[in-house]
Amino acid sequence: MPLHTLSHPLGAHVLTHLRDKTTKPALFRTLSNQIALLLALEATRDLATEEKKIETPMEPMPGRVLARPLVIVPILRAGLGMLQPFHDLFPDVSVGYVGLERDHTTAVARSYYCKLPPLAGTRVIVVDPMLATGGSAVQAVNVVKAAGGTEIVFVCIVAAPEGVAAMQSAHPEVPIHAGALDRALNSRKYILPGLGDFGDRLYGT
Ligand code: PRP
Ligand code: URA
Repeated sequence: MPLHTLSHPLGAHVLTHLRDKTTKPALFRTLSNQIALLLALEATRDLATEEKKIETPMEPMPGRVLARPLVIVPILRAGLGMLQPFHDLFPDVSVGYVGLERDHTTAVARSYYCKLPPLAGTRVIVVDPMLATGGSAVQAVNVVKAAGGTEIVFVCIVAAPEGVAAMQSAHPEVPIHAGALDRALNSRKYILPGLGDFGDRLYGT
């Protein structure tokens, strides 16, 4: 599946302030919500709808409503910084959690938590702000598939070419929506130019 990147000028504006190292956690959280809202709209552009007959105050009409349940799966902990706009836009959404943490030396993600709702017949949107090596995203989608998820989308704020390649190799049918595609990873597997450690900046750790 191709990589989709945000084209809305507000996306570039918000991302620039997120990347700025002088941005403090309170503003960082606000900006995360703003860019996640834009990404949520893009990642749900193709949701199926079905007819629902209603009556306006003037006359009957066939309206359209969302046809299938939506499940959001933030990868803990930084993925929590993208959850609120999905709740705001889709109040009936179910939320699953996958806890993964990269080892500081090897950059390999270790699983420490998993709780998922029933996934059969749903659209599952896995969210994690940073797609670096792709190890966390690939593992999370593995878990979602093992739990019965079939229609899966991955959403991130910044992607590295290495992470996109890893996802496209492991899960070629999963569309990726990113705020931006950056240049590369450094020797410690951080994204360049990136925005640093998202979880640390979000939570002030
Ligand atoms: C960060 C980020 C992703 C992961 C990306 O999480 O939120 O989950 O790294 O890297 P990868 O593509 O190389 O796997 P981290 O492991 O630092 O944990 P945190 O969310 O608890 O800060
Ligand atoms: N995780 C982050 O938070 N930032 C990176 O650049 C890479 C992984």
